[in-house]
Amino acid sequence: MRILGIETSCDETGVAVYDTSRGLIAHALYSQIRLHQEYGGVVPELASRDHVQKLLPMVQRVVAEAGGPETLDGVAYTAGPGLVGALLVGACLGRSLAFAWGVPALGVHHMEGHLLAPLLEDPKPAFPFIALLVSGGHSLLVEVEGVGRYRTLGESIDDAAGEAFDKVAKLLKLPYPGGPHLAKLAEQGRPGKYDLPRPMTDRPGLDMSFSGLKTAVRVLLGKLPDPDEQTRADVARAFEDAVVDTLSIKCERALKQTGQRRLVVAGGVGANKRLRARLKEMTAKLGGEAFYPRPEFCTDNGAMIAFAGALRLEAGAPPPNPVTARWPLDSLAAP
Ligand code: KG4
Ligand code: ZN
Repeated sequence: MRILGIETSCDETGVAVYDTSRGLIAHALYSQIRLHQEYGGVVPELASRDHVQKLLPMVQRVVAEAGGPETLDGVAYTAGPGLVGALLVGACLGRSLAFAWGVPALGVHHMEGHLLAPLLEDPKPAFPFIALLVSGGHSLLVEVEGVGRYRTLGESIDDAAGEAFDKVAKLLKLPYPGGPHLAKLAEQGRPGKYDLPRPMTDRPGLDMSFSGLKTAVRVLLGKLPDPDEQTRADVARAFEDAVVDTLSIKCERALKQTGQRRLVVAGGVGANKRLRARLKEMTAKLGGEAFYPRPEFCTDNGAMIAFAGALRLEAGAPPPNPVTARWPLDSLAAP
Protein backbone atom coordinates (compact mmCIF):
# COMPACT_ATOMS: atom_id res chain seq x y z
CA MET A 1 0.00 0.00 0.00
CA ARG A 2 1.33 3.42 -1.00
CA ILE A 3 0.19 6.61 0.75
CA LEU A 4 0.72 10.31 0.13
CA GLY A 5 1.24 12.21 3.42
CA ILE A 6 0.68 15.95 3.89
CA GLU A 7 1.73 17.98 6.95
CA THR A 8 0.62 21.63 7.37
CA SER A 9 -0.20 21.95 11.09
CA CYS A 10 2.19 24.81 11.84
CA ASP A 11 5.13 26.42 10.03
CA GLU A 12 6.45 23.51 7.96
CA THR A 13 5.00 22.24 4.70
CA GLY A 14 5.84 18.52 4.52
CA VAL A 15 4.95 16.07 1.75
CA ALA A 16 5.97 12.41 1.45
CA VAL A 17 5.04 9.08 -0.12
CA TYR A 18 5.40 5.96 2.03
CA ASP A 19 5.06 2.41 0.73
CA THR A 20 4.31 -0.30 3.31
CA SER A 21 6.56 -2.82 1.57
CA ARG A 22 9.31 -0.52 0.23
CA GLY A 23 9.49 2.21 2.88
CA LEU A 24 9.86 5.93 2.25
CA ILE A 25 9.76 6.59 -1.52
CA ALA A 26 9.97 10.39 -1.75
CA HIS A 27 9.73 13.35 0.58
CA ALA A 28 10.06 17.13 0.58
CA LEU A 29 10.03 19.71 3.33
CA TYR A 30 9.71 23.47 3.23
CA SER A 31 10.25 25.49 6.41
CA GLN A 32 8.63 28.91 6.84
CA ILE A 33 11.27 30.04 9.36
CA ARG A 34 12.34 33.09 7.32
CA LEU A 35 8.74 34.21 6.88
CA HIS A 36 8.05 34.32 10.64
CA GLN A 37 11.51 35.34 11.85
CA GLU A 38 10.90 39.09 11.90
CA TYR A 39 7.84 38.56 14.16
CA GLY A 40 9.72 36.33 16.63
CA GLY A 41 7.12 33.54 16.34
CA VAL A 42 4.60 31.89 14.02
CA VAL A 43 1.91 34.24 12.58
CA PRO A 44 -0.99 31.83 11.87
CA GLU A 45 -2.51 33.78 8.95
CA LEU A 46 0.86 34.06 7.18
CA ALA A 47 1.47 30.35 7.79
CA SER A 48 -1.84 29.40 6.12
CA ARG A 49 -1.23 31.64 3.09
CA ASP A 50 2.26 30.24 2.60
CA HIS A 51 1.01 26.63 2.79
CA VAL A 52 -1.49 27.53 0.02
CA GLN A 53 1.37 28.71 -2.19
CA LYS A 54 3.91 25.97 -1.46
CA LEU A 55 1.83 22.82 -0.98
CA LEU A 56 0.49 22.03 -4.46
CA PRO A 57 3.83 22.33 -6.34
CA MET A 58 5.48 20.20 -3.63
CA VAL A 59 2.77 17.53 -3.94
CA GLN A 60 3.20 17.53 -7.74
CA ARG A 61 6.97 17.07 -7.41
CA VAL A 62 6.83 14.33 -4.76
CA VAL A 63 4.03 12.38 -6.47
CA ALA A 64 5.87 12.54 -9.82
CA GLU A 65 9.07 11.31 -8.12
CA ALA A 66 7.11 8.43 -6.58
CA GLY A 67 5.79 7.29 -9.98
CA GLY A 68 2.56 9.29 -10.46
CA PRO A 69 -0.86 9.40 -8.79
CA GLU A 70 -1.96 6.05 -10.23
CA THR A 71 0.54 4.31 -7.91
CA LEU A 72 -1.15 5.78 -4.79
CA ASP A 73 -3.67 3.94 -2.60
CA GLY A 74 -4.65 6.80 -0.27
CA VAL A 75 -3.97 10.27 1.05
CA ALA A 76 -3.20 11.11 4.69
CA TYR A 77 -3.15 14.67 5.99
CA THR A 78 -2.62 16.16 9.46
CA ALA A 79 -6.08 16.85 10.92
CA GLY A 80 -4.90 18.24 14.30
CA PRO A 81 -3.83 19.36 16.76
CA GLY A 82 -2.47 22.55 15.23
CA LEU A 83 -3.37 25.92 13.73
CA VAL A 84 -6.82 25.45 12.20
CA GLY A 85 -6.21 27.68 9.14
CA ALA A 86 -2.96 25.89 8.38
CA LEU A 87 -4.54 22.46 8.92
CA LEU A 88 -7.40 23.33 6.55
CA VAL A 89 -4.95 23.92 3.68
CA GLY A 90 -3.58 20.36 3.92
CA ALA A 91 -7.00 18.85 4.63
CA CYS A 92 -8.69 20.58 1.66
CA LEU A 93 -5.98 19.62 -0.81
CA GLY A 94 -5.59 16.08 0.60
CA ARG A 95 -9.32 15.36 0.49
CA SER A 96 -9.75 16.92 -2.97
CA LEU A 97 -6.90 14.84 -4.40
CA ALA A 98 -8.23 11.67 -2.79
CA PHE A 99 -11.68 12.38 -4.28
CA ALA A 100 -10.21 13.04 -7.73
CA TRP A 101 -8.02 9.93 -7.63
CA GLY A 102 -10.80 7.73 -6.19
CA VAL A 103 -8.77 6.66 -3.13
CA PRO A 104 -9.52 6.99 0.60
CA ALA A 105 -8.46 10.06 2.59
CA LEU A 106 -7.52 9.99 6.26
CA GLY A 107 -6.97 12.70 8.87
CA VAL A 108 -3.93 11.86 11.00
CA HIS A 109 -3.22 12.99 14.59
CA HIS A 110 -0.05 15.09 14.47
CA MET A 111 1.32 13.68 17.75
CA GLU A 112 0.65 10.11 16.60
CA GLY A 113 2.79 11.00 13.58
CA HIS A 114 5.61 12.14 15.88
CA LEU A 115 5.14 9.11 18.12
CA LEU A 116 5.41 6.61 15.27
CA ALA A 117 8.25 8.44 13.42
CA PRO A 118 11.00 6.35 15.13
CA LEU A 119 9.46 3.29 13.41
CA LEU A 120 10.68 4.74 10.10
CA GLU A 121 14.25 3.97 11.20
CA ASP A 122 16.28 0.78 11.17
CA PRO A 123 16.50 -0.75 13.76
CA LYS A 124 13.03 0.26 14.84
CA PRO A 125 11.58 -0.21 18.31
CA ALA A 126 9.19 -3.11 18.92
CA PHE A 127 5.94 -2.47 20.82
CA PRO A 128 5.39 -1.89 23.71
CA PHE A 129 7.45 1.18 24.59
CA ILE A 130 7.42 4.46 26.47
CA ALA A 131 7.33 7.54 24.24
CA LEU A 132 8.62 10.94 25.27
CA LEU A 133 7.00 13.46 22.93
CA VAL A 134 8.58 16.87 23.25
CA SER A 135 7.58 19.48 20.69
CA GLY A 136 6.75 23.18 20.55
CA GLY A 137 3.18 22.57 21.67
CA HIS A 138 3.33 19.35 23.74
CA SER A 139 5.37 17.50 26.35
CA LEU A 140 3.95 14.04 26.90
CA LEU A 141 5.03 10.73 28.36
CA VAL A 142 2.95 7.96 26.81
CA GLU A 143 2.83 4.19 27.25
CA VAL A 144 2.42 2.71 23.77
CA GLU A 145 1.10 -0.86 23.40
CA GLY A 146 0.56 -0.61 19.64
CA VAL A 147 -0.82 1.71 16.95
CA GLY A 148 -3.69 3.67 18.54
CA ARG A 149 -3.17 2.07 21.95
CA TYR A 150 -1.85 4.98 23.95
CA ARG A 151 -1.99 5.80 27.67
CA THR A 152 -0.76 9.23 28.74
CA LEU A 153 1.38 8.86 31.87
CA GLY A 154 2.32 12.49 32.31
CA GLU A 155 2.31 15.84 30.56
CA SER A 156 3.40 19.41 31.01
CA ILE A 157 0.98 21.37 33.18
CA ASP A 158 2.09 24.67 31.61
CA ASP A 159 4.68 25.41 28.88
CA ALA A 160 5.80 22.60 26.58
CA ALA A 161 9.54 21.81 26.57
CA GLY A 162 9.99 23.33 23.08
CA GLU A 163 8.01 26.41 24.10
CA ALA A 164 10.36 26.85 27.08
CA PHE A 165 13.40 26.55 24.77
CA ASP A 166 11.86 29.19 22.47
CA LYS A 167 10.94 31.60 25.30
CA VAL A 168 14.35 31.32 27.01
CA ALA A 169 16.02 31.79 23.61
CA LYS A 170 14.05 35.04 23.28
CA LEU A 171 15.29 36.16 26.72
CA LEU A 172 18.81 35.48 25.40
CA LYS A 173 17.98 37.56 22.29
CA LEU A 174 18.35 34.59 19.94
CA PRO A 175 16.36 34.37 16.69
CA TYR A 176 13.22 32.28 16.19
CA PRO A 177 12.90 29.31 16.36
CA GLY A 178 14.88 29.43 19.56
CA GLY A 179 15.51 25.75 20.37
CA PRO A 180 18.27 24.97 17.85
CA HIS A 181 19.92 28.40 18.36
CA LEU A 182 19.92 27.96 22.13
CA ALA A 183 21.40 24.46 21.81
CA LYS A 184 24.17 25.86 19.59
CA LEU A 185 24.97 28.67 22.04
CA ALA A 186 24.98 26.16 24.93
CA GLU A 187 27.81 24.25 23.23
CA GLN A 188 30.15 27.11 24.21
CA GLY A 189 28.72 27.24 27.76
CA ARG A 190 30.55 25.95 30.81
CA PRO A 191 28.57 23.35 32.79
CA GLY A 192 27.74 24.17 36.41
CA LYS A 193 28.31 27.94 36.14
CA TYR A 194 24.70 28.61 37.14
CA ASP A 195 22.29 26.44 39.05
CA LEU A 196 18.68 26.24 37.83
CA PRO A 197 15.77 24.17 39.25
CA ARG A 198 14.75 20.71 37.97
CA PRO A 199 10.97 21.35 38.16
CA MET A 200 8.67 18.74 39.74
CA THR A 201 11.44 16.15 40.16
CA ASP A 202 11.32 16.35 43.97
CA ARG A 203 7.83 14.87 44.15
CA PRO A 204 6.33 11.68 42.75
CA GLY A 205 4.49 11.67 39.44
CA LEU A 206 5.22 12.07 35.76
CA ASP A 207 3.74 15.48 35.02
CA MET A 208 6.17 18.21 33.96
CA SER A 209 6.33 21.98 34.26
CA PHE A 210 8.68 24.32 32.43
CA SER A 211 7.29 27.79 32.99
CA GLY A 212 8.99 28.21 36.42
CA LEU A 213 12.32 27.28 34.83
CA LYS A 214 11.83 30.03 32.25
CA THR A 215 11.08 32.49 35.09
CA ALA A 216 14.24 31.33 36.92
CA VAL A 217 16.25 32.19 33.78
CA ARG A 218 14.59 35.61 33.61
CA VAL A 219 15.47 36.27 37.28
CA LEU A 220 19.06 35.07 36.70
CA LEU A 221 19.46 37.32 33.64
CA GLY A 222 18.09 40.23 35.68
CA LYS A 223 21.12 39.82 37.96
CA LEU A 224 23.47 39.78 34.97
CA PRO A 225 23.02 43.13 33.26
CA ASP A 226 24.55 43.32 29.79
CA PRO A 227 25.93 39.73 29.78
CA ASP A 228 28.86 39.02 27.45
CA GLU A 229 28.83 36.13 24.94
CA GLN A 230 30.41 33.65 27.39
CA THR A 231 27.90 34.49 30.14
CA ARG A 232 24.97 34.06 27.72
CA ALA A 233 26.41 30.69 26.67
CA ASP A 234 26.79 29.67 30.34
CA VAL A 235 23.13 30.56 30.99
CA ALA A 236 22.04 28.65 27.85
CA ARG A 237 24.03 25.62 29.07
CA ALA A 238 22.49 25.84 32.55
CA PHE A 239 18.99 25.93 31.03
CA GLU A 240 19.64 23.05 28.61
CA ASP A 241 21.15 20.95 31.42
CA ALA A 242 18.10 21.63 33.61
CA VAL A 243 15.66 20.52 30.87
CA VAL A 244 17.75 17.46 29.96
CA ASP A 245 18.08 16.41 33.63
CA THR A 246 14.36 16.91 34.25
CA LEU A 247 13.29 14.93 31.18
CA SER A 248 15.78 12.16 31.95
CA ILE A 249 14.51 11.84 35.55
CA LYS A 250 10.89 11.66 34.33
CA CYS A 251 11.70 9.09 31.63
CA GLU A 252 13.63 6.92 34.08
CA ARG A 253 10.66 7.06 36.46
CA ALA A 254 8.24 6.12 33.65
CA LEU A 255 10.38 3.13 32.63
CA LYS A 256 10.71 1.89 36.21
CA GLN A 257 7.03 2.46 37.00
CA THR A 258 5.74 0.56 33.96
CA GLY A 259 8.51 -2.05 33.71
CA GLN A 260 9.03 -1.13 30.05
CA ARG A 261 12.56 -1.32 28.60
CA ARG A 262 12.31 0.70 25.42
CA LEU A 263 12.16 4.48 25.27
CA VAL A 264 11.21 6.31 22.09
CA VAL A 265 11.95 10.02 21.84
CA ALA A 266 10.23 12.21 19.24
CA GLY A 267 9.11 15.75 18.50
CA GLY A 268 11.26 18.82 17.75
CA VAL A 269 13.13 18.85 21.09
CA GLY A 270 14.06 15.22 20.39
CA ALA A 271 16.57 16.68 17.89
CA ASN A 272 18.55 18.08 20.85
CA LYS A 273 21.94 16.32 20.92
CA ARG A 274 22.52 16.56 24.67
CA LEU A 275 19.04 15.15 25.37
CA ARG A 276 19.61 12.26 22.95
CA ALA A 277 22.98 11.39 24.50
CA ARG A 278 21.63 11.56 28.07
CA LEU A 279 18.56 9.40 27.39
CA LYS A 280 20.70 6.83 25.60
CA GLU A 281 23.00 6.64 28.60
CA MET A 282 20.11 6.47 31.11
CA THR A 283 18.25 3.67 29.28
CA ALA A 284 21.48 1.68 28.81
CA LYS A 285 22.13 1.92 32.57
CA LEU A 286 18.66 0.40 33.14
CA GLY A 287 19.40 -2.40 30.65
CA GLY A 288 17.02 -0.87 28.11
CA GLU A 289 17.35 0.95 24.81
CA ALA A 290 16.53 4.42 23.43
CA PHE A 291 15.23 5.00 19.90
CA TYR A 292 15.04 8.26 17.96
CA PRO A 293 14.08 9.29 14.48
CA ARG A 294 16.86 11.03 12.50
CA PRO A 295 16.83 14.74 13.52
CA GLU A 296 14.94 15.86 10.36
CA PHE A 297 12.09 13.49 11.28
CA CYS A 298 12.01 14.79 14.90
CA THR A 299 10.69 18.16 13.74
CA ASP A 300 7.53 18.40 11.64
CA ASN A 301 7.61 16.50 8.34
CA GLY A 302 5.38 14.72 5.83
CA ALA A 303 7.04 11.31 6.20
CA MET A 304 5.60 10.72 9.67
CA ILE A 305 2.08 11.58 8.44
CA ALA A 306 2.39 9.31 5.37
CA PHE A 307 3.67 6.52 7.67
CA ALA A 308 0.96 6.88 10.36
CA GLY A 309 -1.66 7.16 7.60
CA ALA A 310 -0.35 4.03 5.88
CA LEU A 311 -0.53 1.97 9.09
CA ARG A 312 -4.11 3.06 9.69
CA LEU A 313 -5.33 2.79 6.08
CA GLU A 314 -3.73 -0.65 5.78
CA ALA A 315 -5.90 -1.74 8.70
CA GLY A 316 -9.09 -0.56 6.90
CA ALA A 317 -9.89 3.04 6.05
CA PRO A 318 -12.09 4.79 8.62
CA PRO A 319 -13.98 7.93 7.51
CA PRO A 320 -11.78 11.03 7.20
CA ASN A 321 -11.60 13.27 10.28
CA PRO A 322 -12.40 16.96 10.17
CA VAL A 323 -9.59 19.26 11.30
CA THR A 324 -9.42 20.09 14.99
CA ALA A 325 -7.20 22.47 16.98
CA ARG A 326 -7.32 20.36 20.15
CA TRP A 327 -7.39 16.57 20.08
CA PRO A 328 -6.31 14.41 23.05
CA LEU A 329 -3.99 11.57 21.99
CA ASP A 330 -5.71 9.16 24.41
CA SER A 331 -8.98 9.53 22.47
CA LEU A 332 -7.52 7.62 19.49
CA ALA A 333 -8.48 3.97 19.02
CA ALA A 334 -6.55 1.08 17.54
CA PRO A 335 -7.23 0.69 13.79
O1 KG4 B 1 7.76 19.03 16.57
P1 KG4 B 1 8.09 20.41 16.14
O2 KG4 B 1 8.86 20.61 14.87
O3 KG4 B 1 6.81 21.29 16.00
C1 KG4 B 1 5.69 21.14 16.84
O4 KG4 B 1 4.88 20.22 16.58
O5 KG4 B 1 5.65 21.92 17.81
O6 KG4 B 1 8.89 21.08 17.37
C2 KG4 B 1 9.37 22.38 17.32
C3 KG4 B 1 10.04 22.70 18.64
C4 KG4 B 1 10.42 24.18 18.75
O7 KG4 B 1 10.03 24.64 20.04
C5 KG4 B 1 11.94 24.16 18.60
O8 KG4 B 1 12.58 25.24 19.24
C6 KG4 B 1 12.30 22.82 19.22
O9 KG4 B 1 11.27 21.96 18.78
N1 KG4 B 1 13.62 22.33 18.78
C7 KG4 B 1 14.67 22.14 19.62
C8 KG4 B 1 15.74 21.68 18.81
N2 KG4 B 1 15.30 21.59 17.52
C9 KG4 B 1 13.99 21.99 17.52
N3 KG4 B 1 14.78 22.31 20.94
C10 KG4 B 1 15.98 22.04 21.49
N4 KG4 B 1 17.06 21.61 20.80
C11 KG4 B 1 16.99 21.41 19.46
N5 KG4 B 1 18.06 20.98 18.78
ZN1 ZN C 1 5.19 18.65 15.62
